[in-house]
Amino acid sequence: MIDPSSYSAVLRRSFRRTFPPATRGEGVYLWDARDKRYLDFSGSAAVNFIGHGVVEIAAAMAAQAAQLEFVHSSQFTTPVAEEYALELLDFAGKNFQGGCVYFTCGGSESVETALKLARQYQVEIGQTGRYQVVSRGQSYHGSTLGASSVSGNKRRREMYRPMVREFAHVGFPYCYRCAFDCTDSCRACGQEYAAELEQAIEAAKGEVAAFIVEPVSGATLGAVVPPSGYLQKVAEICRRHGVLLIADEVMTGMGRTGRNFAVDHWDVAPDLLVTAKGLSSGYAPLGAVLVSKKVASAIADGSGAFLHGFTYNSHPISLAAGRAVLRFLQERKLVEAADSDRQGSTAATLGQALDGLHDAKPVGDVRGIGLLWAVEFVADKATKQPFASELNFAGRVAQAAVKRGLLVYPMQGCVDGVSGDHVLIAPPAVITSEQIDWAVMQLQEAIDEACAA
Ligand SMILES: Cc1ncc(COP(=O)(O)O)c(C=O)c1O
Repeated sequence: MIDPSSYSAVLRRSFRRTFPPATRGEGVYLWDARDKRYLDFSGSAAVNFIGHGVVEIAAAMAAQAAQLEFVHSSQFTTPVAEEYALELLDFAGKNFQGGCVYFTCGGSESVETALKLARQYQVEIGQTGRYQVVSRGQSYHGSTLGASSVSGNKRRREMYRPMVREFAHVGFPYCYRCAFDCTDSCRACGQEYAAELEQAIEAAKGEVAAFIVEPVSGATLGAVVPPSGYLQKVAEICRRHGVLLIADEVMTGMGRTGRNFAVDHWDVAPDLLVTAKGLSSGYAPLGAVLVSKKVASAIADGSGAFLHGFTYNSHPISLAAGRAVLRFLQERKLVEAADSDRQGSTAATLGQALDGLHDAKPVGDVRGIGLLWAVEFVADKATKQPFASELNFAGRVAQAAVKRGLLVYPMQGCVDGVSGDHVLIAPPAVITSEQIDWAVMQLQEAIDEACAA
């Protein structure tokens, strides 16, 4: 029964939890209706990259709304869409030169779009038997049914499994819990994991249209960076088998890992690249699929029309927000700030500060790249045994952090889809070193409190 004292007309994420009403944001901070301040150490859910309350973005959105709020993409294009698409292709670099961009309202819609583009590409080039999309076992590509069918996140998809099409899921390099007995920082096993993809493609007997992968694992595994050579091998296998490579950079794109897109760390050229979250930094619902020239040309020279559409794709106000965000992050050099390889950068400072958490009793692993990090908790450091999932250890840490005015993003399931606890850290790139030090100190105390409970 719904408790009348906590009744809300909004169908929230939980009927049991209470949610403070958020009222404003500025820089790395959010405030609730009681004027309690929170340091947003996870950029909500790795969304905010440029900081909250940036007036330039609000002004760009208001100007667009005053000029033209909406047209339907079956009737018009808009100057903001045409100009912003060119700017994004330029930001993505040479791999997407001559390609094009499909704008949506977020990550899941963009993944759906990429899946359909992959299928249509194969049909256009005469490969009509190709429709399967292979993905990785511990992955998350969105909440819609199509995106769920290619996601491996057990917790989020289990109930809906009878409603979704199952394709092959392959293994994934997760060095802290590597399935192989590695002594070379998982270099060789990266090739073994890639070989699993080749086996899955061969087993599907010419029916695989695409492979979808998060270049750096986001929420499900928590900021797991693949060993060098893995993604290059995956790309080579896809190319050799006529399978499209879809990079899901919903979380990792637009500078979050210290490169414009995470694939740039390994010089990998996906056929389709999906991005959202940091694209608008949360100022408006926005996602995009970057389409390589190869895929765009197959459709342009074939049937000539992409059989897909949402009422709100290419929404002018969202695009004005995204365009202003891109300009802001370039002017402020925020991708450079997010580069953990760069001495003295914000990301390098964050990495060093988080590394100090290693000594805490329940901290098994601290991993990440750029401004995307995770702290994984274990009941026993020596055996890496996770906490019992019912304890919800990551949730307890996050709650203890909230009490201290710190927001982190807790997740469970990194070990096997059910057990395994971590918190994701993905602050806005405008965070200062003093704010990082304060946040890590609060996180340390929150971990201690969760242990004592
Ligand atoms: C890698 C990845 N893909 C897709 C999605 C789905 O995006 P959205 O929640 O905007 O639909 C997410 C969201 O967390 C994600 O991390």
